[in-house]
Amino acid sequence: MGKSIVIIGTQWGDEGKGKVVDLLTDRAAAVIRFQGGHNAGHTLLIDGRKTVLHLIPSGILHDGVDCIIGNGVVVHLPSLLEEIDGLVGNGVAVTDRLKISAACPLILPTHIALDRCRERASGRQAIGTTGRGIGPAYEDKAARRSLRLSDLFDSEAFNARLTAAMDLHNFMLQHYYHAEPVDIDATCDEWMQMAERIKPLVIDVAGYLGKLRADGANLLFEGAQGTLLDIDHGTYPYVTSSNTTAGAAATGSGLGPLSIDYILGIVKAYTTRVGAGPFPTELFDDMGRHLAKVGAEFGATTGRPRRCGWFDAVALRRAIINSSVSALCVTKLDVLDALDTIKICIGYRLDGEVYDVPPHLVGRYEDCEPVYEELPGWRTSTVGVTEFDRLPAPARRYLERLQEIVNIPVDMVSTGPARGDNIIVRHPFD
Ligand code: IMP
Repeated sequence: MGKSIVIIGTQWGDEGKGKVVDLLTDRAAAVIRFQGGHNAGHTLLIDGRKTVLHLIPSGILHDGVDCIIGNGVVVHLPSLLEEIDGLVGNGVAVTDRLKISAACPLILPTHIALDRCRERASGRQAIGTTGRGIGPAYEDKAARRSLRLSDLFDSEAFNARLTAAMDLHNFMLQHYYHAEPVDIDATCDEWMQMAERIKPLVIDVAGYLGKLRADGANLLFEGAQGTLLDIDHGTYPYVTSSNTTAGAAATGSGLGPLSIDYILGIVKAYTTRVGAGPFPTELFDDMGRHLAKVGAEFGATTGRPRRCGWFDAVALRRAIINSSVSALCVTKLDVLDALDTIKICIGYRLDGEVYDVPPHLVGRYEDCEPVYEELPGWRTSTVGVTEFDRLPAPARRYLERLQEIVNIPVDMVSTGPARGDNIIVRHPFD
């Protein structure tokens, strides 16, 4: 019997999911993206050359592993083709292993233009989106006017639907944002050409996964962004436009929730956030700058510096509930190596009371003050440690305390950027 594992971020994204997915792919028959779009990103080194993947699961670097983009992902065709070409140029065979759902909604050039105009017009209220058209594309999905990959198979209908969608978008661009419209005819021609390259990759993803599962294959679902960016459960409106919690692995792939056996929550040993929105444990001092520098905290998609702060166990408790997290993988432990003392946020103070869960009125998030517990640092390198017992005692204590506070086990720890820099307490596929 195979096992289906979902990997999700439990913070605001950038928890280091890509490395963990890469590691576990060794034991998987397929890696599946189920939400988000090319707003996600992780950097890979192939023979010393840097490649950033936004849409294609990093499993593509492992021979024999299927890489699947499920219906929950919004797809920007030019970006997808650019990624395919980049990988092929690096000698990676892509097209026989990459498979995409016919139900994926397309991100159109007008979605990107609208995203950017909206952010500009919002001034200080801007969300700090990645500018990739994610929000407007999901809006059209909910409004039932998306173009889907399946539309590429009928060029006449495609042109008619594209024209209708872009007409509406152009109206908003011109008359609401006073911006330039996007050329509809040129887009129709360009996209029909791209369609010819994509069509052979389009499959019935739910049927394919159902068959793999029935055949006893191990499946690995790769979440993008993090719980606090979830459209329903995150710090709304400072969120992305998809569900980033584990349930989306089912709705965004078509394989039902009882086919999921284990959920690994990835959590950084501290916290980061890109873009605007509340962040109770954010540090504005030298400590924040230290974490940013040692942790190389710059976004893989936009290059923006990430905001940094202490570990937030309050937010994590909610993430564990939201995603039925089975166990944690704590990443970037080594970034804390030089510190004398380390803080963990164990409560939020709000209106004079201390809470151990986040406020259900998200508007109150801004007013929460962190309540900290302080632990001694270890002031010695943990880079590359591969056994729990070889960690310095204060580092073991830090991890044990995290487990106690949130009451689930730490199954994995990442101790450095290299592929082998990990402690595997219990392998998720065992
Ligand atoms: P959007 O997903 O581009 O609409 O951006 C909405 C919010 O999600 C912004 O705060 C982005 O910075 C954030 N975001 C989107 N994708 C990622 C990611 O992969 N990592 C971290 N933050 C992200």
